Amino acid sequence: MDRTLILLKPDCIHRRLVGEILTKFERKGLRLVALKLIQADKALAEKHYEVHKERPFYGSLVSFLTSSPTVALVLEGREAVVVARNLIGATDGTKAAPGTIRGDFAISIQNNLVHGSDSNENAAKEIALWFTPGELTSFTPIDTPWVAGS
Ligand code: RTP
Ligand code: MG
Repeated sequence: MDRTLILLKPDCIHRRLVGEILTKFERKGLRLVALKLIQADKALAEKHYEVHKERPFYGSLVSFLTSSPTVALVLEGREAVVVARNLIGATDGTKAAPGTIRGDFAISIQNNLVHGSDSNENAAKEIALWFTPGELTSFTPIDTPWVAGS
């Protein structure tokens, strides 16, 4: 089982889409490991998007992520990173496929509602950035054999 870090970014909270978007991940069969509403400070936002620090949009992206609370969650499941990225869709909401979260709810590039880790390695780093080990739960949902097929 793999884990991924998902952020429901400030636009998601302002637009009251948290429940609807969480439902998409839950229905797919990913399980909640951790979940919290958190006001990211500048240090956390800068670290999270450190890979983009030389990009022209970095300052605006950090301002966006620190502007209001974010819902941070960890999801677990088979191929969780890829599964979540496929549900989220392409970065630019205007190009994201219908049926994906960004394809259905976003027309912005920056304000694209959701972040999802892009590799297992980055997922581990991002989970450690947003959560303490004690915040990560360990349990097996009772429907696991039906969802996972084994
Ligand atoms: P994310 O990291 O948030 O899951 O998004 P992503 O992998 O689809 O896209 P990435 O290239 O990692 O970009 C990170 C976030 O930066 C904002 N962005 N703005 N103005 C621009 O050209 C631009 N490009 C990217 C978006 O909020 C994107 O999700
Ligand atoms: Mg990314």
